[in-house]
Amino acid sequence: MLPDALRAAVDADRTRDAGSHFVDLVARYFAETGYGESAVSPTAGHPERRPEFDEPMPTDGRPLTDIVRRIEAEFLASANRLSHPMYMGHQVAAPIPAAVWTEVVIAALNNSIAVSEMSPTGTAIEERVIRWMCDLAGYGAHSGGTLTSGGLEATHTALLAARAAIEPESWRRGIVGTPPVIVCGEHAHYAIARAAGELGLGTDSVRTVPSADWRMDASALPATLDALRAEGRRVMAVVATAGYTATGGFDDIEAIGAVCEARGLWLHVDGAHGASALFSPAHAARVRGIARARTIAWDPHKMMLVPLAAGALLARDERDLSAAFEQQAPYLFHGMDGTRSPDQGTRSFMCSRRADALKVWVALQRHGSVGLGEMYAHLCGLATTLHALIAQRADFVALHVPESNILCFRWLPPDVDDEPTVDWLNLQLRERYNASGRGWITTTVLGGRRVLRVTLMNVRTQDQHLSALLEGLAAVGAGLIDEPA
Ligand SMILES: Cc1ncc(COP(=O)(O)O)c(C=O)c1O
Repeated sequence: MLPDALRAAVDADRTRDAGSHFVDLVARYFAETGYGESAVSPTAGHPERRPEFDEPMPTDGRPLTDIVRRIEAEFLASANRLSHPMYMGHQVAAPIPAAVWTEVVIAALNNSIAVSEMSPTGTAIEERVIRWMCDLAGYGAHSGGTLTSGGLEATHTALLAARAAIEPESWRRGIVGTPPVIVCGEHAHYAIARAAGELGLGTDSVRTVPSADWRMDASALPATLDALRAEGRRVMAVVATAGYTATGGFDDIEAIGAVCEARGLWLHVDGAHGASALFSPAHAARVRGIARARTIAWDPHKMMLVPLAAGALLARDERDLSAAFEQQAPYLFHGMDGTRSPDQGTRSFMCSRRADALKVWVALQRHGSVGLGEMYAHLCGLATTLHALIAQRADFVALHVPESNILCFRWLPPDVDDEPTVDWLNLQLRERYNASGRGWITTTVLGGRRVLRVTLMNVRTQDQHLSALLEGLAAVGAGLIDEPA
């Protein structure tokens, strides 16, 4: 028998009153961060925070209000504030608020979308969202797809499907003999090498095409493919990237697609970041030719600005996905007789699956494809403005012209010309700047040099925040230079 007190606690937490504590907390967070008045990030990092949570597992329950208070005081107060307009860090959005509130609905219903009978409406919503995305990509009626945990899983799944096409026996027997090769740009996301490892090809089976301007040099692709043919290696897939992680640049999908078509090769587009350019009339040309891809990874939790996690994989022919996963589970799935299964679990890596499609659907209902396109264009416009601001200064230099909302640039400290020292100082600058609470950015290595990197993922960021970024970096940099050696 459930103890009365426990039943009462569960019942109390089902009420509007209980929920309002959480809603109030999030609303306070939105309000505090909205205009950029609070610090962006805690001054202390993970090692310092760890002891705060170092406690034994609670044996007895506590009042909900105490817990919410702790979340606010200990978790939220020390968290990175992506909602702050000076947060310009990794490719994770300041999420669209309507999609944030939807999370509670998803969790409350807890309908799993692996099996349609467990979530009839969730399955219909996921199908609808996928259909909208396929239509936008220019795919036809036979296309389909699946939501994923993100771009990594989407690309893994696409490459699993490509493996099934070139090695139909691989599901049962694994890879026998020399594994086929995946071809991609030098700066492609590690999702590709990881998939090669996971799929039994081995990471040595990833062959890169030389780059031009930090993206795949499409004119060098035929020579790479010819060299592989001369070695007797079969090509499983060519992966083009739409929105490179480091620079936000785009491969020439049209040109790469033409080569793949001429040679009968599987083209996968990793559009985890940049496929959302499709929403913006001003940016859609960056992904011209995307419908030539047999599969497309496209993350709503990146440039569609929904909360983690929501990735998507689209397939020009949905049957490619069903062929990727050959598991038989008649106790669970329908359509095991060769007809189309209504169960998304047959096309997905996951078994239990959240109804993440609902928050993507809500984001589109709330702002429409036009609104999402305007948000995309605004974020890219910020990167262009930052590039222009940098061009006016002698203390920073941009590494590339931005093609999306990502920009890499380098601090040029006065009177220092040896490159390794400039590298070290850039790294220090990033650490100090982030620790100052003024803003939050990332770094990467481009062409062997340490650079600063910003990703603009918050629609509340405006031009004045970009000026504040450069002023803040310059001020922190001056302090760094003035320090005694
Ligand atoms: C181009 C690209 N592909 C794939 C990924 C992986 O996506 P996720 O983190 O959603 O799994 C990223 C993430 O940064 C990315 O930039």
